Amino acid sequence: MLRAFFLISLLLAIAWFAVFGFRGQKSTRPEIEIFPDMVRQPKVRAQAESKFFADQRGGRQPIAGTVPIGYDMPMPHDEGSAVDAKGEGAMHAHLGFTEGTDYYNTGKMGANWGTGIPMNVTPQLLERGRQRFDINCMPCHGELGNGDGIVKQFGLATVVSLQDDRIRKMPDGEIFETITNGKNTMMPYGPRVVVPDRWAIICYLRTLQRSQHASAADVPADHQADLEKQPEPATK
Ligand code: HEC
Repeated sequence: MLRAFFLISLLLAIAWFAVFGFRGQKSTRPEIEIFPDMVRQPKVRAQAESKFFADQRGGRQPIAGTVPIGYDMPMPHDEGSAVDAKGEGAMHAHLGFTEGTDYYNTGKMGANWGTGIPMNVTPQLLERGRQRFDINCMPCHGELGNGDGIVKQFGLATVVSLQDDRIRKMPDGEIFETITNGKNTMMPYGPRVVVPDRWAIICYLRTLQRSQHASAADVPADHQADLEKQPEPATK
């Protein structure tokens, strides 16, 4: 009986020290770390020096020209100013990422996908769209959007052809949503492509779709004569 009492007291004492033991006591000796986990990490703390860099400063300047996500570019002109000679003004207007719940920012009108380009459709916008499409979408969806981008050769076989009837009939807002948040194996482009560029891409995509489903009758009358001069396009 007495034995059991001593044993239990001893265990309790050990448990007490284990939990409350020398906590809060100061010591100059390095502590014993049985499981150090991530207590000590090879990282540079804010304002600390670092031998890694020649100037020994741990804190580094961001690379010149870095733009933080969600940051509105300072505008060269007034917010509403018309397109300047190179169309730059229009491009810098509202240069930002999705903020808000309106059609321009979400592609949704109320609960439904909306359709239409909520920007001035200009040749500059189309040109911008072509550039952004070629940078962001072409590697997967291909130059004409028909799903034969370079990644196909490297195993991403499920890329959708944007020339499909389904995508041709898809509301602009839903395509906007796909760019913003991705779809299944397609990753989101919302954090990379600013809102006006997404609309510019959609504009250009519509042009691509039109271009692949056009007939001679679509050529305006005053250009019909040019048609005869052109060699027949190679059939697919
Ligand atoms: C890394 C490759 C990749 C890139 C880059 C990419 N996509 Fe996709 N996209 C896919 C894949 C894969 C799918 C098919 C997803 C699925 O399984 O439904 C797809 C599907 C789509 C769809 C159809 C969505 C649906 O509802 O079926 C649209 C529209 C689309 N992409 C537009 C774009 C646009 C516009 C861009 C450029 C901003 C872009 N994609 C960039 C891979 C990509």
